[in-house]
This record gives sequence, C-alpha cells and structure tokens, in this order.
Amino acid sequence: MKKEQRKRIVDRHRDSLTRHGHHPNALYWSSKKIQDIRFRVLSEIGLEAGDSVLDVGCGFADFKCWIEEEGKAVEFTGIDLSPDLIRVAEEKHPDAKLLCGELFDFELESQSFDWVTLSGAMNEQLHDEGVYARKMIAAMFALCRKGLAFNMLDARTLKAHDLQSVEPQEMLDYCQSLCADVQMRDDYLPNDFTIYMRR
Ligand SMILES: C[S@@+](CC[C@H](N)C(=O)[O-])C[C@H]1O[C@@H](n2cnc3c(N)ncnc32)[C@H](O)[C@@H]1O
Repeated sequence: MKKEQRKRIVDRHRDSLTRHGHHPNALYWSSKKIQDIRFRVLSEIGLEAGDSVLDVGCGFADFKCWIEEEGKAVEFTGIDLSPDLIRVAEEKHPDAKLLCGELFDFELESQSFDWVTLSGAMNEQLHDEGVYARKMIAAMFALCRKGLAFNMLDARTLKAHDLQSVEPQEMLDYCQSLCADVQMRDDYLPNDFTIYMRR
C-alpha cells in the first residue's frame, strides 16, 4: 500500500478513536449490532474452540471478544495498520498476539493458522480497481490451513466515492482461480457479502 494511503488510514482511526473511544463507531461501523452480524457470518465458516485465528485488520480485536462470548476460546492473532487501535487491543487482550502493520510487513509462514478472517479491512477506497484487495486475498489464503473468510462491500447496492465496493461475481471468479471450494454469503446485510474459501 502507498505510504500516503497508509497514513490516511492511520490518521482517520486516530481521529475516530479520539472522538468515540473504544466503540464500533471508531471503526466506522454504524453499530455494534452491525459489527456483530459480520462476526457471526465470518465464524460460520466453521470456527471451533481451540482453533487458531489470524484476523487481518482486527481493530480493537473485538472479534476475539465475540468468539469468547460464544463460549469458544481460540488462539488469536490480530494485525492492524493503526498503532492506536492495536494499543487498545493490547490492553484489552494481553493473551492475544497483536501485530501493527499490514500483512505484507510480516513474513508469516504459509498455512500457519487454521483460519484467516477479515472484516471491513478492504473497505478503504484505494482507487486501484481492487488490485491490492486481490493481493491480500491471495496472501491470506496462503496463510490458512482450514480456510479464509472475508467480507467486502457490495457494489450492486452500494456505491460511495470514499469506500471500496466490488461486484461479488468478480470477486467470486477471482477466488475460484485460487481455491476449489468457494462459497458466497449475501444473506445477512444489504450492502455486504462474505466469501468463504475452504481448503
Ligand atoms: C472497519 S474496521 C474493522 C475492524 C475489525 N475487523 C472489526 O470488525 O471490529 C477496518 C480496520 O482495518 C484496518 N485496516 C485497513 N486496511 C488495512 C490493511 N491493509 N492492513 C491491516 N489493517 C488494515 C483499519 O485500521 C481498521 O482497524
């Protein structure tokens, strides 16, 4: 990602954290309910207690809380570009492994996590026609043993100049070029879809 794009994401979240504190609004989610719906759909790929999870763009690592509230303990690793959000996540989750940066900053071993997940971290408008998002998807898929679940904004229902939304079928075609078992979910929120890629 370009230096200025990275700075924009970091600055935006610093500002929103100052305004909202540890709240889904600081992540640009409209409510906790909406954030939780996305978490539920991601988890329905088949997450089980004892699994290891890498959550890319983890924010406050709220997904870890959500999984624990479901009565499951997982081995959680989170990555986020924002040092401010990671700092809050570290305070809240001393038992999690939290990394500050983008995926490409780290040399993670292939297939070293059961599941890789991503919620909302490909919604930033990068004006690159989804090139960076595709690179992320390929890199995330390489890291999972069981599968990858991620969501994106649905261009069939949402077009906003400051957000990246994509045609689900185009993403589906791309994911199928990487993985034989691909499933799309678009049954949970009007402007969002989730893709499961299972090994
Ligand atoms: C909408 S928020 C969602 C946070 C978290 N997934 C959740 O649902 O609670 C998107 C997050 O992705 C992070 N982010 C955006 N692009 C990223 C990238 N390329 N690599 C890592 N983190 C990224 C942002 O800093 C932000 O914390």
